[in-house]
Amino acid sequence: MNPMKQAPRKLLSSLCSKCLCGKKIFLFFIMILNNLVLETKLQRKKTPFMANINENYLKLKAGYLFPEIGRRVRAYSEANPDKRIIRLGIGDVTLPLSKSIVEAMKKAADDMSTSQGFHGYGPEQGYDFLISKIIENDFKPRGVDIGIDEVFVSDGSKCDSGNIQEIFSTDAKIAVTDPVYPVYVDTNVMAGRTGEAGEDGRYKNIIYMPCKAENNFQPDFPTEKPDLIYLCYPNNPTGMVATKERLTEWVAYAKKNDAIILFDAAYEAFIQDDSIPHSIFEIPGAKEVAMEFRSFSKTAGFTGLRCAYIVIPKELKGKTKSGEAVSINTLWNRRHSTKFNGVSYVTQKGAEACFSEEGKKEIKANVKYYMENAAMIQKGLNEAGFETFGGNNAPYIWLRTPKGKTSWEFFDFLLQKAQIVGTPGSGFGPAGEGYFRLSAFGKREDVEEALKRIKALS
Ligand code: MLT
Repeated sequence: MNPMKQAPRKLLSSLCSKCLCGKKIFLFFIMILNNLVLETKLQRKKTPFMANINENYLKLKAGYLFPEIGRRVRAYSEANPDKRIIRLGIGDVTLPLSKSIVEAMKKAADDMSTSQGFHGYGPEQGYDFLISKIIENDFKPRGVDIGIDEVFVSDGSKCDSGNIQEIFSTDAKIAVTDPVYPVYVDTNVMAGRTGEAGEDGRYKNIIYMPCKAENNFQPDFPTEKPDLIYLCYPNNPTGMVATKERLTEWVAYAKKNDAIILFDAAYEAFIQDDSIPHSIFEIPGAKEVAMEFRSFSKTAGFTGLRCAYIVIPKELKGKTKSGEAVSINTLWNRRHSTKFNGVSYVTQKGAEACFSEEGKKEIKANVKYYMENAAMIQKGLNEAGFETFGGNNAPYIWLRTPKGKTSWEFFDFLLQKAQIVGTPGSGFGPAGEGYFRLSAFGKREDVEEALKRIKALS
């Protein structure tokens, strides 16, 4: 017998023969000990009953960029309640919704109050009344022929560009520009397509395409073969654009490498130069290798309303492990109709109004206002001695931080000395270090005041 088990028995029998009181005390002591052991065992057993988490989330860097900025700004504002902060950080619009959108939504709300006009669940893909206007206005005039079942209306390009990776293999290799809109990277980290982040801030198993002043912020083609290539033009965050020639090269590259381009065109409405494509589908052959994300958020002030869409041409195919071709459109339709119940009727009526003659004029005026802001910011920064990029065809101005400051150092400096909020370039990726982004979506008086404060600093 195990000597550890024998010892208490021996002690008990010797106590038994000596005194009854000692025996009672000993039994009481054993009972407490047993209870303790039992409790510990139960506690230990609890762990295996807990659900395992998706450990890929633990690879993510602390917080998503914009909430982190919000946290720092809140802390500053609480400590300095008398200071007026100007926000040119997150690309959120400030002009109110235009009249035709509001009128259309009011009418749609009235429809909903009648039995004939009431709408319950709509088609997950979006109402035909909106999709046909999208096709007629956003694509036909550019010579692009899109079918009604190639458009999927959604509640935002952030969600679309984040969710799309779900329909691809978990071992698909992604290529992203650096700097990049963080959603593309973070959602792939969550899905387990990457390794840990290295000391340089880059995740293993992602192909990064650096965009710096030295290459005019135009990424080189990856040498390692990607499966999915995220491109955003006009670019967030650098505000740069891709020429027709460059996009033609990208389409050829994707074809040659059997890759799919995920083209984010959320800022196409801000293009001023007529030679710059608004859609990747303006490039011949793009339908076989690309899908496109579009949004009403920045174009028509829908950041709070939520309406966007993806175009997935029928020609676009992926493949199974055994090499059979599968329609990406069909896969996304399955995913979208399983996980999404459609954008509200009232919101889609508002989006439809963006394509009325009056709506188009109003939206154009709003875009003009923001682009005038962009021009003022560029000019003001240049006068104050800053080197700037972007901002001619996009609502973002990308600037080099002064005096070798890191992006976050410059963020804190600007917040503390001038009460201006921008976005640190390094928040968009390691190659964004030493750069900073200002958004042109602010109110005109705020932009003017911000420039005054910046000039006073230099
Ligand atoms: C940005 O500031 O980069 C954008 O507002 C983020 C977004 O559209 O989700």
